[in-house]
Amino acid sequence: MDLDALDTLAARMRSAAAIVVLTGAGISAESGVPTFRGQDGLWRRYSAAELATPEAFSRDPDLVWQWYRWRRSLIGRAIPNPGHLSLARLQERAARFDLVTQNVDGLHQRAGSAAVIELHGNIWRSRCARGCGFVLDETTPAAGSELPGEGGAAPACPCGALLRPDVVWFGEPLDEGRIDLAVRAARNCDVFLAIGTSALVYPAAGLPLIAAGAGALVAEINVDDTPLTPHAGLVLRGKAAEMIPAIEARL
Ligand code: OAD
Repeated sequence: MDLDALDTLAARMRSAAAIVVLTGAGISAESGVPTFRGQDGLWRRYSAAELATPEAFSRDPDLVWQWYRWRRSLIGRAIPNPGHLSLARLQERAARFDLVTQNVDGLHQRAGSAAVIELHGNIWRSRCARGCGFVLDETTPAAGSELPGEGGAAPACPCGALLRPDVVWFGEPLDEGRIDLAVRAARNCDVFLAIGTSALVYPAAGLPLIAAGAGALVAEINVDDTPLTPHAGLVLRGKAAEMIPAIEARL
């Protein structure tokens, strides 16, 4: 652990009026939730084009739902790790604290984080695929329950169409309200922490660059280099579940 970098970051966070945290799949890795692009990443074993696009859903909704049910079963068994828990406590430490996540697992909320900006949706929510407005929200801590619909079949909306996971698929735009909130927070923060993200998927990957451009200290916490690394003011190499509590201990 780079103790100097930890001390520098903690000092900046102590005096910060506004802190933004962006998390990616890496923060949930130690809860047992697979990442997308790591060694055992989901996109190494499964095809995003066949499972996480609107076209894939039109072609084979049952297959898409089987994949999402499988991910739900993994996530349903996972519990928030010390990184999630520490971030939930950190929200009390700055006058303004915004937590933006690309994760759809809901583990930040289960750890106690409030007002999480979920850029890519939530796997515990489903909505009408035809757009009638129906939403089935199962984002409670006891999530893991079965969806309506038999076995592997795609569940039906009360309107007769199919339900789809309320997550952002490749080729789909992000919810405008959520990305606007995140951009505004990034522009106005003093410290920006990018934690466990490969910093490859935009617009989320642009948020730390916006913060750096506006003068914030950008710190990257990751086990590996990413395209963000050269732009980060501080780089903390290590596991999120260890690094975040180590920062908290210095505040
Ligand atoms: P990725 O799987 O692309 O990246 C995970 C990052 O976490 C990598 O940079 C790893 O080095 C790092 N990492 C792994 N274990 C870690 C640990 N214990 N502590 C800290 N870092 C660790 O996941 P995301 O960046 O979240 O989008 O991916 C972004 C988006 O791409 C996802 O939200 C998803 C995916 O396709 C959609 O589904 C729309």
